[in-house]
Amino acid sequence: MQRWRHTVYAIVEGGQRGYPPGRAFDLFLVTVILVNVTAIVLGTVEDLPAFWHGLFSHIEVVAVGAFTVEYVLRLWVALEDPRRIYRHPVIARLRYALTPLAIIDVVAILPFYLHLLSVPIDPSVAVLLRALRLFKLLRFTGAFDLVGEVLRNERQPLLAAAAVVSVALLMVSTLAYMAEHEAQPDKFGSIPAAMYWGIVTLSTVGYGDLTPITPWGGALTGFPVVLGVLCFALPAGIMASGFIEELRRRDFMVTWHLVAKVPLFQRLSAARIATVASILKPVRIEAGAQVVRKGDAADAVYFILTGALEVETPNGPVVLGTGEFFGERALLDSGRRSATITARTNCDLLMLQAADFRHLLESSPDLEAEIRRIAAERGAKSRQAGAESPASA
Ligand code: CMP
Repeated sequence: MQRWRHTVYAIVEGGQRGYPPGRAFDLFLVTVILVNVTAIVLGTVEDLPAFWHGLFSHIEVVAVGAFTVEYVLRLWVALEDPRRIYRHPVIARLRYALTPLAIIDVVAILPFYLHLLSVPIDPSVAVLLRALRLFKLLRFTGAFDLVGEVLRNERQPLLAAAAVVSVALLMVSTLAYMAEHEAQPDKFGSIPAAMYWGIVTLSTVGYGDLTPITPWGGALTGFPVVLGVLCFALPAGIMASGFIEELRRRDFMVTWHLVAKVPLFQRLSAARIATVASILKPVRIEAGAQVVRKGDAADAVYFILTGALEVETPNGPVVLGTGEFFGERALLDSGRRSATITARTNCDLLMLQAADFRHLLESSPDLEAEIRRIAAERGAKSRQAGAESPASA
């Protein structure tokens, strides 16, 4: 039973980690969600022929069936999650059931079961709850995590911006109340009532249903409009820079792990790996593409993460694979590529620009010695082959 649960966990939660059956499971669910939400949206168009409404009902049944099985499976395997501290089956599952994504999963299927049990529910509320199924997609995009992380990282500047907006709102509403409450007691009769005008004006929406009519009130109107642009630009800017920062941090973490896997860099400290990770650029090469051509000017050295490449040497083709590097010889001496290298398969490489490569060698004598040793070995092999070929011809 435990083995089964472990296998199901790998499928249900493994899509994000690239496990192929998990990706197939995710793809199936994403397709069901998209088809189902489209059917829900189109289902509100009453003029459509009855055939379509019949089809939408069938889609609803299939989708709710799929979502119910998904929910039960996720609940069942919840205690396999290595991040869960509470190993007791009931507690682990309860904690999972209370996570935002699990709550969304339940809310998304609730209207269907309430309807089955003949529990009265307002039709427009039912449509709204069913449309919430679109939120299920958050699980597959990682967007939920990302927004949560950005809000957590930027909470202080966001709170400061909220404080500025609140002070501005209170100030503007109080001034509007003072200017208008005698002329328009029905609209600006209290500060909370004036706050509605304050919010609409500060957000620069300006419905126009409330307008100051006294000279002081009129003079006041331009002030919150300008202030509003500033107040709302502030949190928008904080969120935008927060997103960029978080994406950069995630990219950096991925590159750090990739760099740490290259054998040559394993001698470096974590801090040095971090420095190298910030200057290496991941590149993807398609099978059959020439990465460097003999005689070309050199501008970078490459480290192989995955895939295989073929070096055309005088001794015949030499295959380079995961963990190896190439392109160092030209940078260490002549400046021109000594051989042509073609990708045999799709490859993931890390590219290091010439200037960064030289800096790296200067700061890591160990690394320089190792790279020079390998480059010299490669050079010796080529010279040896060059010396041998006329004799053997
Ligand atoms: P570079 O001369 O900059 O560009 C071609 C690269 O092919 C070269 O650096 C080496 O990294 C690599 N190379 C050349 N000869 C060999 C060899 N015999 N074995 C492995 N790699 C080689």
